[in-house]
Amino acid sequence: MIKDFNFYAPTRVVFGRESEKKIGELVAANGGKKVLIHYGGGSAQRSGLLDVVREQLHGAGIAFCELGGVVPNPLLSKVREGVELCRAEEVDFILAVGGGSVIDSSKAIGYGVPYDGDVWDFWAGKAVPVQCLPIGVVLTIPAAGSEMSSSCVITADEGLLKRGINSDLCRCRFAVMNPERTFTLPPYQTAAGATDIMMHTMERYFSKYEDMSLTDAISEALLRTVKESALVVMRHPEDYRHRAQIMWAGSLAHNDLTECGTEKDFATHRLEHELSAIFGVTHGAGLAAIWPSWARYVKDKHLNRFVQFAVNVMGVTNDFSHPEETAECGICAVEEFYRQIGMPTSIHELLGREITDEEIDTMVEKCSRGGTITVGAMEVLDAQAMRDIYLMAR
Ligand code: NZQ
Ligand code: ZN
Repeated sequence: MIKDFNFYAPTRVVFGRESEKKIGELVAANGGKKVLIHYGGGSAQRSGLLDVVREQLHGAGIAFCELGGVVPNPLLSKVREGVELCRAEEVDFILAVGGGSVIDSSKAIGYGVPYDGDVWDFWAGKAVPVQCLPIGVVLTIPAAGSEMSSSCVITADEGLLKRGINSDLCRCRFAVMNPERTFTLPPYQTAAGATDIMMHTMERYFSKYEDMSLTDAISEALLRTVKESALVVMRHPEDYRHRAQIMWAGSLAHNDLTECGTEKDFATHRLEHELSAIFGVTHGAGLAAIWPSWARYVKDKHLNRFVQFAVNVMGVTNDFSHPEETAECGICAVEEFYRQIGMPTSIHELLGREITDEEIDTMVEKCSRGGTITVGAMEVLDAQAMRDIYLMAR
């Protein structure tokens, strides 16, 4: 079966060395007259990128104000600060300089500025966004894919609730991507980014809609490429060619291209969001800690898919008479890859300690919203299944 689809990817991608030099003209072309430059904890300042951005806007005669300090797993409190600043300064365009956290914080501010109520209403399910300020991105870490996605993931400081919402309104107008800007990434962030990129495509590849072979081929090529390039850049962080593969893959993995004809599962993501909300862990590392257990939990009902993945992505030899062993070898190969790039394969490895029964109870409670919702699509998981997977992953 092939699922019907409606593919929309409106973001202009300006890719390559010195692509930052296009920022001024890109903002002007998108009507920006007063810009908020939004950034994180200091990497963009240290690398000199922020100076380039300021020069670009000056050069184009565009006024701007600034707000830094976005933390990984971005917080609602910073979004609120941004909404107030944008209103006071009459900002009409937001320029995110950073990764998924900065982009999502920018998207949330973009939703909040034209909205009369409390911006968290959108994540609390009390309102649906109908407007968003235009957003542009200067990407510094390939990982979340937010530069081309419709998602915006925010954590409410009180209660540490991490939630995502989707809307085409927040799709970025442009994304400037210079792979050289990723040379400074610490190995852990590089590895977590590669893991997240692969997972965005795996969450769509593992689907009960198995007949769109073109999408499968794109997904398999993307997964093999990121795997191979990640191994290279872990040893050679300034390898432009391989940094470029990962950067482009990061956008394609989450702009819905690899969902054409298939269906989003995203159970691993939903299970992970509770880990990064409560423990503040890096999102990609949290995914690595969960996925092998999710895979083993669901694989017997979807053996063909797991065999195809093992053979076409992980390079496992197909043992036609024992498909369950081929499938298991594919999962083991993913775990081996995670170990090679320094990612965990369990919650214990992720946190450096045993997770308690009470902590698992809390994660199940939050992920299932008190037992009222399920997650996943290829295999629908209720609260008991979530608990089983957390216990397998512990
Ligand atoms: O804050 P600074 O100093 O900039 O440091 C950042 C941060 O500590 C650092 N970094 C970024 N670029 C760098 C750099 N360090 C050195 N050199 C550079 N060039 O990297 C750290 C992580 O940055 P962050 O933006 O948090 O990473 P990522 O892109 O992985 O974003 C993670 C967030 O995105 C959400 C995640 O849940 C998490 O909150 N996601 C968003 C999605 C979306 N909107 O579509 C989908 C994803 O599945 C994900 O859930
Ligand atoms: Zn992700």
